[in-house]
Amino acid sequence: MNISKRLKEVSNLIEKESSILDVGTDHGYLPLFLEENRNFEKIVATDISIDSLNKLKSKLDKNSKIETKLQDGLEYLIDNEAEYVSICGMGARLIINILEKAKPYREKAKYYIFQPNTTIYELREYLLINGFKILDEVSVVEDGYYYNIIKATFGQKEDYKDYELKYSKILLEKKDKNTLNYLKKEKDRYIFIREKENISDNRKKQIEKELILIERALKRYEL
Ligand SMILES: C[S@@+](CC[C@H](N)C(=O)[O-])C[C@H]1O[C@@H](n2cnc3c(N)ncnc32)[C@H](O)[C@@H]1O
Repeated sequence: MNISKRLKEVSNLIEKESSILDVGTDHGYLPLFLEENRNFEKIVATDISIDSLNKLKSKLDKNSKIETKLQDGLEYLIDNEAEYVSICGMGARLIINILEKAKPYREKAKYYIFQPNTTIYELREYLLINGFKILDEVSVVEDGYYYNIIKATFGQKEDYKDYELKYSKILLEKKDKNTLNYLKKEKDRYIFIREKENISDNRKKQIEKELILIERALKRYEL
């Protein structure tokens, strides 16, 4: 089965083949790929929308071990445990809401893999101040879009500088090439906006702040 580059990278961060809960599964591409290519003991795919879940259900043959559940967020963890949870293809704020609702039982999963579509720095910040530890990050570019994928568990708070929060401490440590290209593009984009005539002073100040963060991140590639 073919899988997107984005979800392939997600699967690469899953090392043990014990149990996985895929939240917001939609077509179920990740669980289908894991069932076909790996040897998981348990694969559970959930979605809040019956229409979404039916997209996966229609692809399952009767021997499939994938369990589907119509559930909100991490409800599955109220009565169960999972080695991995994947939450991919959603906005960071939605992911944060899901984690926040599950505060009393979210530690029943060991590892979390997140692939937020937007404002990833908000998710990083949330994780760092809410008892998670970021173990790894990877970046992938697909169809012109730049995605970051975070692997996290629970652990002690780490110190992050402002630009590391925004552009990923781990990817900057790795001198990640996709991140370098992204930073260069963001720099050009902000400079272009700054040069526009009808831009307010407040927006200009915001842009200057963003450019400082970008310059700090870019400096890491010179070390
Ligand atoms: C864009 S799809 C992402 C599908 C897949 N995870 C991927 O990365 O390709 C987002 C899915 O999340 C589901 N979703 C949104 N809020 C949810 C929630 N609170 N709990 C479970 N699923 C949710 C939506 O119904 C939708 O099917």
